[in-house]
Amino acid sequence: MNLPDYIEARKRTKAKVEIEHYSNEIKNIGNGKTYHIKTYGCQMNEHDSENIKAILEELGFTYNDNYLTSDLILLNTCSIRENAHNKAFGMLGRLKHLKSTRPNLIVGLCGCMAQEEGVVKELLDKYKWVNFVFGTHNLHRLPYILKKALDNNVSEIEVFSKEGNIIEGMPVKRDSKYKAYVNIIYGCDKFCTYCIVPFTRGGQRSRLKEDIIAEVNELIKEGYMEVTLLGQNVNAYGKDLNLGYGMEELLEEVSKTNIPRIRFVTSHPWDFTDGMIDCIARHENIMPAIHLPVQSGSNKILKLMGRRYSREDYLTLFSKMKERIPNVSISTDIIVGFPGEDEQDFKDTLDLVEKCKFDNAFTFIYSKRENTAAAKLKDNTSLEDKEKRLYELNKVVNKYFLENNQKLIGQIVPVLVEGISDKKNELYGYTDTNKLINFKGSVSNIGKIVPVKVTAAKTWSLDGEQDE
Ligand code: 5AD
Ligand code: SF4
Repeated sequence: MNLPDYIEARKRTKAKVEIEHYSNEIKNIGNGKTYHIKTYGCQMNEHDSENIKAILEELGFTYNDNYLTSDLILLNTCSIRENAHNKAFGMLGRLKHLKSTRPNLIVGLCGCMAQEEGVVKELLDKYKWVNFVFGTHNLHRLPYILKKALDNNVSEIEVFSKEGNIIEGMPVKRDSKYKAYVNIIYGCDKFCTYCIVPFTRGGQRSRLKEDIIAEVNELIKEGYMEVTLLGQNVNAYGKDLNLGYGMEELLEEVSKTNIPRIRFVTSHPWDFTDGMIDCIARHENIMPAIHLPVQSGSNKILKLMGRRYSREDYLTLFSKMKERIPNVSISTDIIVGFPGEDEQDFKDTLDLVEKCKFDNAFTFIYSKRENTAAAKLKDNTSLEDKEKRLYELNKVVNKYFLENNQKLIGQIVPVLVEGISDKKNELYGYTDTNKLINFKGSVSNIGKIVPVKVTAAKTWSLDGEQDE
C-alpha cells in the first residue's frame, strides 16, 4: 500500500525528470467484462480518462454507457472545490448500495482526490469496500494495480506523493474524432494560496518539444482538425527543461505542422510574454481565444492569493492582447469571497469586469482547501454575502457575454462542425473565438471547418446558417 503524503507532495526538487515509455505485460484480465468511468473536473482529468479508457480496453474490458450494469466503475475525481469532493463522495454512497446488491462489482477511485491524505484516510476508514485507488502520477500502473485488486480480496491503494517521470506512449481513446487534447506540461509550481493543484498534480514538468510535435503530426494523419495544448500553466512551458525553448517556440512549431486549429489552456498572466502575443497574432491556425484567469480585481486580494501581478499589470496585458490579436476573445476565472475580501475589494473586481467585458467567465465562491496557504487565513465573510457577490458578479459577466455575442450578428465566422445539436435538424460547432454555435447546415460538413453566418445571439451561444 502506498499512501499520499502532503509534506512530500509540497517539496520541489531539481532532480532531473526522466522520460519513460509506457509498457504493460498484463493481458486479458478484463475479457468479458464491461467498464464505466465518471470523470469530474478539468480537461486534464478528461484527457487522463481518455488514457484510462484505452488502457482498460487493451486489458479486454469494453465500455458500458450505463454504470448500473457495468462490471467495473472508476471515478476520476477532482479536488479543486468542495462541491467536486461532495459529488464524488455522493457517487460513492450510491455505489456502496449497488455493491451490496452486486458483490462482484469492482469500484476504483483515481484522480486528484486520490492524492489527498485526508481523502485516502477516509476511504480506508469508511469505504474499505472500494477495490482500488491510484493517483495522478501513476496512471500507467493501472494494469498492475487492477490485477492486484482482482487477485486479492483487499483494497489496493497505490498513490505516489512525488510526481516521478514523464510517461510517453500511453495508449489513448479520444472522445472526439476532430478535436484532441495534447499534454504539454504537467503539474504547477505557482502555489497560488487557494489552490490544491500543486499538491495533487506535483511539480512542473514539460514534455519535450519533439514528442509534442510527433503527437500533433500523428493526429493530423488521423484526420484531427484541432489540438488543445494542455497544462495547469501552459505559459511556463519549457522553463524546467533548460533547452532554450519555451511556449512561444512551441506555438511556432505546432503552427508549422499546419493543423488547422490550435488552442491552449490554461494561461497564467505572469508568464504571458509579448513574444507569445505576437506569435498568436502572426499565425492563422493559432485561434484568437485566450483563457486568462484574473481571479480578483483587487490588488490586496491578488497579493493574498499569491498571484504575482497587480490589477494594473493584468489590464495592461489584456489591452496588449486586444490591440495586437485581431478579433481576440478573452475569457477568465474569478473567485469571490476569498478570505479578507471586503465590499471595496469586490467592487474592484466588478470594476475590472466592466473594463474587460470578458467573452466568457467561470465564477466561483472561494472554497477552503486542506493544506493550502489560504486555509490559514481568517475568513470573516458570511456564506450569504459570498452568494450575493457571486449573484451580482454573474449578472455583470452575463451582460457582457450577450453583448459580445450580439456584435457578431450578421458576420460570417469559421466553425468546426462537431455534430448534430440537441435541437432537431441543427448542427453545432465552435467558432475560431471558441463560441458555441447552433446552425442549419448539411450533415456532410461534420468534421470540417465551414463559414457560418451568425443570425442571433444568446448569452451562452449563437445561432446561425451555413453560408453557401
Ligand atoms: N476555491 C474556489 N475556486 C478555486 N479555483 C481554484 N482553486 C479554488 C478554490 N480553492 C478556481 C480558480 C481556477 C479555476 C480552475 O478554479 O479560479 O482558475
Ligand atoms: Fe493553481 Fe493555476 Fe495557481 Fe497553478 S497557476 S497554483 S494551477 S491557480
